[in-house]
Amino acid sequence: MISTGLAADTSSPSAPRPSSADARPPVALDDTTTDVGTAQPTGIAELDHVLSGGFVDGSVTLLGGEPGIGKSTLLLQAAHKWSGSVLYVCAEESVQQVRQRAERLGAIRSDVWLLAEHGLGEIADAIESTQPSLIIVDSIQMISDPVVTSAPGSVAQVRACAQFLVNLAKRRSIPLVLVGHVTKEGDLAGPRVLEHLVDTVLSFEGDRHHSLRLVRAVKHRFGSTNELSVFEMTSDGLVGVADPSQLLLADRKPQVPGSAVVPTLEGRRPLIVELQALTSVAPPGVPARRTAQGVDQSRLAMLLAVLARHCDVPTTATDVYASAVGGVRIAEPGLDLALSLAIASSIVDRPLPPDLAVFGEVGLGGEVRQVAQPDRRFSEAHRLGFTRVIAPLRSPEPIDSIEIIRVSGVSEALEAAGLL
Ligand code: TYD
Ligand code: MG
Repeated sequence: MISTGLAADTSSPSAPRPSSADARPPVALDDTTTDVGTAQPTGIAELDHVLSGGFVDGSVTLLGGEPGIGKSTLLLQAAHKWSGSVLYVCAEESVQQVRQRAERLGAIRSDVWLLAEHGLGEIADAIESTQPSLIIVDSIQMISDPVVTSAPGSVAQVRACAQFLVNLAKRRSIPLVLVGHVTKEGDLAGPRVLEHLVDTVLSFEGDRHHSLRLVRAVKHRFGSTNELSVFEMTSDGLVGVADPSQLLLADRKPQVPGSAVVPTLEGRRPLIVELQALTSVAPPGVPARRTAQGVDQSRLAMLLAVLARHCDVPTTATDVYASAVGGVRIAEPGLDLALSLAIASSIVDRPLPPDLAVFGEVGLGGEVRQVAQPDRRFSEAHRLGFTRVIAPLRSPEPIDSIEIIRVSGVSEALEAAGLL
């Protein structure tokens, strides 16, 4: 039988909708304040830097990163330094394993409560019994809601569990940190779907085989997303690095062909990075190999095409290995010109002058384009002892005494660097 649906049809577009029990009335804009609560310092200065002060009450932070990068280490150190009691849900490890790591870090404290459970019910009970002032859930992919039938780690589970925990943290005004594993491709497997649920997304980056670790705020409702924190993984855990540029240049051999130094900007923090390229003639009949580490593969392909087409640098039948030194990953276009010069330097087998730094974006026509904040880049290059910088044509006068060589195209830059 077909229902007419005329009586009490709540699916009709004009039917009234019930409001939720804890609904808030509208407020006049001029009666509101900007007060979002005060940030409580974590006690780890570098972490507070990227958080613009610390964790805000009731805020939810997602810490994403590849497995083994150091997320649990950082949070255990933060738990140790936190000013109140902490509930640490170690859903991936046993209490013994966490204890072992805490001993290694010298981070044993009586009011850090460990809970090696996966269920939402157990977590809610533990919050009730321990009354923490900080909750850490390591990791959200391991938590399951008994009401949801899909497997732990599935999108439905991760979303349901995170929503439940977010509501709990907000209701009780306790800062909550969720750990989320990210795959090699940078996808927050599962947690990517959480980004809109949380207040802050921190991305923990670095190469497991290097000691440098970067923490950036990808999203932050209580502060700037331009901050960057730099740590070094040591045998005593993560240690803040005050001068990462110095660390990144420590092993540089300036007289080797194929090396160029770029003052890059990670958010607002300038970072001097060495780019390296190694080239060799590809065997006949075999497609040329192009390998990029820490720099974008398609950007590398584009720069090789520009060098071949606009600068007569023979890149076509050439194997090219390019990398950013120190396990850092640079995505900003300011590195283009330096990478082009590193490649050309390897091909002509001549090093760049040791006191030269290079930055600028390269366009498809072989032109060099301006990038953000050239003045900060000049200052950082100057601070690290570089005396000359090849920079885009429209660069301003530097405040520091450093020589600027302004170029409008890649060929001009190759000439200025002594490679043509
Ligand atoms: P971990 O925090 O377990 O990574 P995640 O939680 O992101 O998976 O860190 C794992 C790596 O860090 C491991 O390879 C050992 C290394 N490590 C140190 O080098 N020093 C230390 O003090 C600690 C605790 C770990
Ligand atoms: Mg871990």
